[in-house]
Amino acid sequence: MIFIYLITLVIILVVFLFSSKTLSPIPYFPSQPVDMPLIVKTLKLKNNQTVIDLGAGDGIVIFSAAQQSYKQKLGTKFVAVEINPILILILHLRRLFHPNKKNIKIVRDDIFKMNFDKLLTFHSSLLTFYLYISPWYLEKTVKNLKLKIKKFGVVSYMYPLKDKTVFAKVLAVKGKNKIFVYS
Ligand SMILES: C[S@@+](CC[C@H](N)C(=O)[O-])C[C@H]1O[C@@H](n2cnc3c(N)ncnc32)[C@H](O)[C@@H]1O
Repeated sequence: MIFIYLITLVIILVVFLFSSKTLSPIPYFPSQPVDMPLIVKTLKLKNNQTVIDLGAGDGIVIFSAAQQSYKQKLGTKFVAVEINPILILILHLRRLFHPNKKNIKIVRDDIFKMNFDKLLTFHSSLLTFYLYISPWYLEKTVKNLKLKIKKFGVVSYMYPLKDKTVFAKVLAVKGKNKIFVYS
């Protein structure tokens, strides 16, 4: 009987964590696995680069890109920022078994309130943000980044930036979904 109560409680907690608008205003939808090779290509991995996924989900992008970087013997750094505690647990577990774990950092924070300075501890000269968040939040997040960080690039999955004044160059790559590359 206690076991059934416990299971029910866990299910309620998981449903709450994945559906709470306050905790996570952007629902968890992973980037399409079929687009992963293209996404990794658009990140243009380099030695002196840090790739940051704001709202990293289960880390599909960060771990695929880190795998590629490891294969190419690059020193690219990766940061996964996520708010959902269950996804954070999954990210830590996946990191533990990743061959490139020394270059991967997991941060639990709210991308709309966080101090971005703590993402810059890797001291890379190139910063690339990967974003797969809804259009309104995409605009808000890029605007916010622009206020705090001098130079960075953005790879946005599925959604283009409406504000054309933020970046000089845009490239749209066609996968299953479109990938927009801003630099
Ligand atoms: C559409 S999913 C994208 C996941 C991942 N980036 C990918 O491409 O597979 C958006 C993610 O953002 C997370 N998220 C939502 N609001 C957040 C916030 N305020 N701070 C940090 N992460 C957030 C969600 O939990 C979810 O995992």
